[in-house]
Amino acid sequence: MAGFLDQIEPLKQTALAELKAAPDLAALEQTKGAWIGPNGRFTALMKQLGTLSKEEKPAAGKLINVAKVGLEAALAERRGELELKAALPKEPTDFTLPGRRRAPGRLHPLTQTTEDIVRSFRKIGFVVADGPEIEDEYHCFDALNTPADHPARDMQDTFYLASEADRAGQASRLSGAGGTPALLLRTHTSSVQIRVMEQMKRAGKEPPVRIIVPGRVYRRDNADATHNPTFQQIEGLYVDKNVTVGDLKGTVEFVFRELMGSDVKIRFRPHYFSYTEPSFEIDFTNALVKKMGKDWLEIAGCGMVHPQVFENVGYDPETWTGWAFGFGIERIAMLRYGINDIRLFYENDVRFLQQF
Ligand code: DAH
Repeated sequence: MAGFLDQIEPLKQTALAELKAAPDLAALEQTKGAWIGPNGRFTALMKQLGTLSKEEKPAAGKLINVAKVGLEAALAERRGELELKAALPKEPTDFTLPGRRRAPGRLHPLTQTTEDIVRSFRKIGFVVADGPEIEDEYHCFDALNTPADHPARDMQDTFYLASEADRAGQASRLSGAGGTPALLLRTHTSSVQIRVMEQMKRAGKEPPVRIIVPGRVYRRDNADATHNPTFQQIEGLYVDKNVTVGDLKGTVEFVFRELMGSDVKIRFRPHYFSYTEPSFEIDFTNALVKKMGKDWLEIAGCGMVHPQVFENVGYDPETWTGWAFGFGIERIAMLRYGINDIRLFYENDVRFLQQF
């Protein structure tokens, strides 16, 4: 018995010394195994407890337990130290090295152009309005005085969404079977003209209406240097009493001069849109256009709001007059930045985007 008890303390001391000296976590695990693992030396001693007499057992057991607790505490402490050491940098830190800087992001060139256009319009009292990209045929076409047989409604030109009836495999409903108008990805932002006037009417608010609508539009075009199935437009609508084409021209000129420089010239050419009468196309020129070897560049459509459009939203066309326009943002951004392929805007190649 005396022999057994005497072994405990020296063994414990050796084990403690080894645990404390373990140089790294792997060595510590090994030392742990050598002492208190299933085949460890300390474990072997504990197994001998069984061979002791009934009188000897309690004292020996107590001593061994105390020792074991001590070893486990030492193990945990050393493990903590070694884990901390492993987490610290191996090399001393050189505080004179330049910091790691994160390259700041930037706005997409189309966003920058849109924001500049919006800023110009804000100066003259326009506010930004918004509408859904998934639009119904009524707001996209009918309400804009575009009858069902108008080429702009040709299914080939845009993306229709399957209706519940289509999904259920029932008869086609392109004209909105069951009373619900067919849904499509809007082909232009002009639909928002209708939505805004309807909303104002519902809220009991009279004109003036002075809105611009930047937004994404969709057409079934094949992508090439000047077409993309998704692109962006800005729509404008001004409704008040005694609004004239002169106001329209002055407004467009003001914004384009702000955007593209004071040498900008604007020209209106007669055109046809079903929601304006008279209608025009706006041509634009400046030094950039000349440099491209052109005299004029077609940039927008516009006109005086058609009386039928006013009727459709419940405005009395005898009281109210207005103009509207719509132009593509990519075209302007391409001119501004000298970009010759619209697809670059949509490829998200950082080498391209970083230049703006
Ligand atoms: N919605 C036309 C388009 O996408 C552009 C346009 C023309 C808008 C005349 C108008 C307008 O508001 O009055 O080509």
